[in-house]
Amino acid sequence: MRSHYCGELNESHVDQDVSLCGWVHRRRDHGGVIFLDVRDREGISQVVYDPDTVESFAIAEGVRNEFVIQVKGRVRLRPEGTINEEMPTGRIEILGKELVVLNAAESPPMQLDEHAEVGEDVRLHYRYIDLRRPEMAAKLRFRSKVANTIRNFLDSNGFLDIETPLLTKATPEGARDYLVPSRTHPNRFFALPQSPQLFKQILMASGMDRYYQIAKCFRDEDLRADRQPEFTQIDVETSFMDENQIMEIMEEMIRHTFKSLMGVEFGEFPQISHAEAMRRYGSDKPDLRIDLELVDIADLMKSVEFKVFSGPANDPDSRVVALRVPQGGSLTRKIIDAYTEYVGIYGARGLAWIKVNDLDAGIEGLQSPILKFMGTEVIESLLSTLNAESGDIIFFGADKEKIVNEAMGALRIKVAEDLDLVKDEWAPLWVIDFPMFEEDGEGNLTSLHHPFTAPACDAETLENDPKSALSRAYDMVLNGTELGGGSIRINQPTVQQAVFKALGISDEEAQEKFGFLLGALSYGCPPHGGIAFGFDRLIMLMTGSSSIREVIAFPKTQSASCPLTDAPGAVSAKQLRELNIRLREQKPST
Ligand code: AMO
Ligand code: AMP
Repeated sequence: MRSHYCGELNESHVDQDVSLCGWVHRRRDHGGVIFLDVRDREGISQVVYDPDTVESFAIAEGVRNEFVIQVKGRVRLRPEGTINEEMPTGRIEILGKELVVLNAAESPPMQLDEHAEVGEDVRLHYRYIDLRRPEMAAKLRFRSKVANTIRNFLDSNGFLDIETPLLTKATPEGARDYLVPSRTHPNRFFALPQSPQLFKQILMASGMDRYYQIAKCFRDEDLRADRQPEFTQIDVETSFMDENQIMEIMEEMIRHTFKSLMGVEFGEFPQISHAEAMRRYGSDKPDLRIDLELVDIADLMKSVEFKVFSGPANDPDSRVVALRVPQGGSLTRKIIDAYTEYVGIYGARGLAWIKVNDLDAGIEGLQSPILKFMGTEVIESLLSTLNAESGDIIFFGADKEKIVNEAMGALRIKVAEDLDLVKDEWAPLWVIDFPMFEEDGEGNLTSLHHPFTAPACDAETLENDPKSALSRAYDMVLNGTELGGGSIRINQPTVQQAVFKALGISDEEAQEKFGFLLGALSYGCPPHGGIAFGFDRLIMLMTGSSSIREVIAFPKTQSASCPLTDAPGAVSAKQLRELNIRLREQKPST
């Protein structure tokens, strides 16, 4: 039906007869001539109908926004003075000859340019209209291009695209499972995969050597701007490659993608250890566009009178840190109070600070609620350790290590955003040397990545001092977002069993849950490792979107529902009977 997309027409098409199909973006009646802005996936063109073409003119008078139409006409240059340099098609217009209404539309519930005011629920409810917005169409087009670029890269590097099941057994990635009841096996459930982790490892045991998949993953967890219950991974696994080789080829894939689609050149990615990332940035996904750093000052604070500092300074599980913010002296009391409240979210019990009004004036030049608790000498050493300058503010965090890292790490970012200290650049890096385990609140160990990650230490350390054991895992971080994570895997059944043991998983439970994996490891499993990238997060970063919901065609809301289809929905009594399920009465919520 169409000869061209609306958005692709330009001066080279002048005097050509064209046929366009699309939606009425805007209709303007200029007494005697009617202008229709016609929109399709690729852009907008202006079509003009004058009363000479009687029949089409009459139809043009009757069309309304969002009608679907077919236009036939001839491309011409716009008259002098009516050129619109803002529009890619702004130098031309189409003199309409024929007009067919392919479908009428009711008056739309939201105007396409008023999306900001209508709220996300309405946008998701009428997603078919929301996605017509040029900005949204551009994002989905770009997403498709990135997928293609990555497929081509992996294909030309010998990776096979292999699908893995969605109806499967639980794969532990740290979230709750989405379960699917089995009709044919009463009282039994499939789990939707949190990732294809175990299948991709088994594909290595099967000799596939290099695998990839753009895979759907399902995780029932608390949602945020960069998390969805259903999301997409670029999932990769390789055999006979060590971590450096895997990181190199994956770095190349990301570098190639940014270069070919955005013209952005990344240098070689820096690598920093997990311990260093936590120490300097309070985060395992540091945003390196921000120069601010946490500095340990426990040594200075061990014997000060101020218990808030000396207590943690003398406790090996705690930290005392300073965060020097150049130009932070301008922050008002009100803002500092708001920051104090902000770090409170992470459990910090306060936020001490010193303003360096005039460095040369000594103590007199400082302003702070805590000066009186510290000796002049301590303060002087502190200022020199931090290379403080006039105009700075210094914030302090003193508490258990985890609280200080989370609170001061988050404050570092917030202050940088508020004071415009985030550099306009791309800052990719690898974080390596992760611990194998972390402790939950009750003293039990859990995997920092997943239980299939190979330890970097020997079996003895793993058994005797699991808390100090490091793993062969690596995360790729871009601008403070964890873009991907992977590791070399365990390929020896005995090591896998030792890790299960450290995690408090009994042999019996291991057999029941992961017997198939242990089997695969026992029958000749090569050394292997891989990685998975959050595809939605990658697109979010590349398009500068504020949330992954902006780059997913049909995302879920914060409460994990779909306003378009109204899922999750009720099911019939018959279906439930077939599934052997009886529902519990829901107490009415008060
Ligand atoms: P991991 O759990 O780190 O590793 O996930 C890999 C990447 O997937 C993205 N991601 C998400 N994106 C959107 N919504 C979510 N809820 C969500 N959860 C994770 C992140 C993350 O870096 N099987 C391992 C990978 C491996 O070891 O090869 C895994 O899934 O960008
Ligand atoms: P206080 O004497 O408890 O009122 O605290 C004096 C200053 O220290 C205030 O600015 C508090 O916000 C700050 N403060 C209190 N507890 C901490 C903490 N754990 N870490 C950093 N600063 C704190």
